Amino acid sequence: MERSQMIEEILRLKREKGALILAHNYQIGDIQDIADFVGDSLQLAKKATEIDEDLLIFCGVRFMAESAKLLNPHKKVILPRLDAGCPMADMVTSEGIEAYKNDHPGAWVVTYVNSSAAVKSVSDICCTSSNAVEIVKGVASEEILFAPDRNLGSFVQEQVSEKQISRWDGFCPVHDRVTGMETRRMKEKFPGVELLVHPECRSEVFHQADYVGSTSQILEFVRKSPGERFIIGTEEGILHTLKKENPHKEFILLSEKLVCKDMKKIGLADLLEALQTEGPEINLDQRVAKGGVRALERMLGDQ
Ligand code: 13P
Ligand code: SF4
Repeated sequence: MERSQMIEEILRLKREKGALILAHNYQIGDIQDIADFVGDSLQLAKKATEIDEDLLIFCGVRFMAESAKLLNPHKKVILPRLDAGCPMADMVTSEGIEAYKNDHPGAWVVTYVNSSAAVKSVSDICCTSSNAVEIVKGVASEEILFAPDRNLGSFVQEQVSEKQISRWDGFCPVHDRVTGMETRRMKEKFPGVELLVHPECRSEVFHQADYVGSTSQILEFVRKSPGERFIIGTEEGILHTLKKENPHKEFILLSEKLVCKDMKKIGLADLLEALQTEGPEINLDQRVAKGGVRALERMLGDQ
């Protein structure tokens, strides 16, 4: 089927079935353009609590669709490609978190949403890259385990020096690939151009940045900035909205390594098939769902 026909058919089926399409800022341009709502992890989690539709098609990676299901247990949540995972989320297990809790009974476990529903279910509270500092500041304990992203954990520790944060040794293989050396080279190549990076980058990278924020915070920064050129240190999918919203500004990707193959798995054909078949559906174990939703709702309640 031709691209334009596929788009037409997706829109027709979406209307006919009363479905809502949510997409992350890293999805391919066609998917972002067709979605009803595009955002960062926090915005998508919030949006999932506000919807009337019974059929939700989530274009992102598995942990995001699982969060939407946790917050909407009675709705049908579809992830068009079940193999769209997140390697960082796979770097931590619920058994690992439980072992830490046994050894540190007074500590709070703050878990980045980039984690499985099972890991969330044994965590005290979740956070995203846009609210991690705020959430850690607000927890009732001085001792914290931050999982699974060691880089976001370092960023938070620098902002919240009054708490003692143990970091899980996980990382995003896409952002963690960028080095301090190549960042320095880019800054030398483009002197005076502001560098905006995601906190999943290494500290040797975010220490050189003019602004550190989640995908939507980077979009917001550019929208408000009088600047005309920016070096962007996050996954390349964000360039789609940056260019669309700011046609007269110029964006330079910090590194060509900033491509997440999991975020690129969903294409128009997958979305069309998902609408036709109403699958593949996300289903969660009841016990996992109960604990997972508590950690997510605690985060959303704090906002
Ligand atoms: P945010 O959109 O919350 O910044 O998340 C980035 C991310 O890694 C999603 O996989
Ligand atoms: Fe996971 Fe990194 Fe891809 Fe986000 S960009 S889904 S954290 S691998």
